[in-house]
Amino acid sequence: MVSEKKIQNRIKELVKEIKEHNQKYYDQDLPVITDFEYDTKVKELGYLEENYPHLIFADSPTNKVGGTVSASFQKYKHQVPMLSLANSYSKQELLDFDARVKKTLLKEVNELEDLTYCCELKMDGLAISLIYEQGVLVKGITRGDGKTGEDITENIKMISDIPKQLLSKVDVEVRGEVYLEKDRLIEINKQRTIEGEAEFANARNAAAGTIRQLDSKIVGERELSFYPYFVVAAAEHGLVVQSQMLEWLKQQGFQVNEHYIAKANISQVIAYCEDWEKKRDSLGYEFDGVVVKVEEFKYQELLGTNMKTPKWAIAFKFFEEVANTVLEDVLYQVGRLGTITPVAVLKPVELSGATVERATLHNSDFIEEKGVAINDEVVVKRAAEVIPAVVMVSHRSENRKEIVFPTECPVCGTLLKQEEDNVAIYCPNIKCKGRLKAQLIHVVSRDAFNISGIGDKLIEQMVEQEVVTDWVQLFELDSEKLSSLERMGEKTVTNILSQLEKAKSIGLAKILFATGIKQVGVRAAELLVSSVSSYNDFFSMKVEEFSEIDGIGEKTACLLKDFFESERARELFRYLEEHGFNFEIEKNISGSSLLNKKFVITGSFDKYSRSELTDLIKSHQGIVASSVSKNTDFVVAGDNAGSKLQKAQEFGVQVISESQLEEMIKI
Ligand code: IVH
Repeated sequence: MVSEKKIQNRIKELVKEIKEHNQKYYDQDLPVITDFEYDTKVKELGYLEENYPHLIFADSPTNKVGGTVSASFQKYKHQVPMLSLANSYSKQELLDFDARVKKTLLKEVNELEDLTYCCELKMDGLAISLIYEQGVLVKGITRGDGKTGEDITENIKMISDIPKQLLSKVDVEVRGEVYLEKDRLIEINKQRTIEGEAEFANARNAAAGTIRQLDSKIVGERELSFYPYFVVAAAEHGLVVQSQMLEWLKQQGFQVNEHYIAKANISQVIAYCEDWEKKRDSLGYEFDGVVVKVEEFKYQELLGTNMKTPKWAIAFKFFEEVANTVLEDVLYQVGRLGTITPVAVLKPVELSGATVERATLHNSDFIEEKGVAINDEVVVKRAAEVIPAVVMVSHRSENRKEIVFPTECPVCGTLLKQEEDNVAIYCPNIKCKGRLKAQLIHVVSRDAFNISGIGDKLIEQMVEQEVVTDWVQLFELDSEKLSSLERMGEKTVTNILSQLEKAKSIGLAKILFATGIKQVGVRAAELLVSSVSSYNDFFSMKVEEFSEIDGIGEKTACLLKDFFESERARELFRYLEEHGFNFEIEKNISGSSLLNKKFVITGSFDKYSRSELTDLIKSHQGIVASSVSKNTDFVVAGDNAGSKLQKAQEFGVQVISESQLEEMIKI
């Protein structure tokens, strides 16, 4: 028999580990183990506590939900605790859940003919609670530890999916998930790279980091989304069934996730879970499973809750597509602004149909946090549209070698620097070949000069053979120089030269973006251009004048002033002018063709990012809203358009493509 001492030690160990993981997941938004491993630990602890109740620790994590409460926000005690959900990973566990529910209920009732389930997607974001008084939004609270949360009302008000006023003048508490759409994450990360900040590892971390921002303006800029799924004391509003509650929320003005199914039996539940597991990458946002809830509130009440989770619901979690492999080495990539990114060299491994040999390690904080070392076995994940990333260490090797971040640039040897308040480490040498290569990749990219004929391999050659030592020299390339490079046929040369020529008339905003001024992304560049009548104005503008431009922050204004004051900027513009670049500001591109027309944008697009489309519409005096209503004139829909498209169809709103929008404004 196992000694009681051993059990006690194991419980102690599990309590300690789970608490640590809770802190990492909920407070630091940096989980170091997968959900599956976490759940296994919680299940083991639950089992031991059930069988050895006298050994339960008073502060056992099985009694409370995840995180803690930050000191930066006012505390708020939830009237009704915010619960978590028990997890399941297999069909068998769903069948067990169904059997458990029926067994418990049959102790109370004679027959269960109307027992059915409501299935919803399990959004991968974070839970919040909204309090409405007389139909008016008065408070927004995080889950916190389940009992006490943080008052984030000001931030919540910046989320456009959250109605500030409901249709009825009701007192009600609505709970749901704040999340970030996938293409917003891509845009935010692009912007963060431009700003020299570390990228968010995933949409959940980005949403969690955003909601606790002290500056609510930033919350507005990030464009978070929201889906509700729970009404506290729903019966008080005359509601009797979960799916009816979702419909009620819709009537009150919420956007409800359209993919739920109502009144399903357990076979339909299983079919729904399996179906969405296959389609998990098909939507514009992340969901990591399905939530199965008993439909009838009368049964929910009879089933009751455990300390942490309701007995009437279960989460079916999808298996994550991960692979296990060995971290053989670490390379250091130099970005165009000099930021150094550690990249894992992996023993090649198959992952979602592709061989993965490299994965990002994000930054030095990430390496330290996860405790990764060379020769360790690591878990690698490949999220949709995102480069593969190391998620965690799965096995520490006996001959592990600590990863030592270089102090000198791996390309040019210059001493690396780190700015205060920023984890990113960078090479300050503007002549660094690593930076130049990255800058050239940026300059030829679609959002900048869009020169598809020049790829990474050609850039590598041009930089190494010093055919180009500054990006502007791209425009000095001629057929002789190009033909001297490897694999350069006559046709390719002609194509590249004609693309370069065409790029000269691409417009000032794109030129500014291509230049790579710190913090100046596509959007900022367009804002800058629309606020001046000639590019010469930039050279005499004061910091205050830059920051007066709507959308340009204080920090960016200072960086712009520094840039335009520099000799480099003057030389650059002189050079570009001499080489026939067109700096005309085509104010006539904008117009009033969309005057007062209301647009909603959804999905991802080939030619524009969503923020570019927004700017385009605004520059023609159209209005861009984030949710579809009867008053919406057009929904511009791209790939993976979600609920907004469905809503447009419901309301009979005209749906157009990006090219149809271009036609409307005659681009
Ligand atoms: S119901 C008592 N429904 O999953 C009701 N939760 O792992 C508890 N979640 O804390 C929540 N989508 O943050 C529910 N459709 C959905 C959900 C959902 C995502 C999250 C929520 C919850 C966590 C539990």
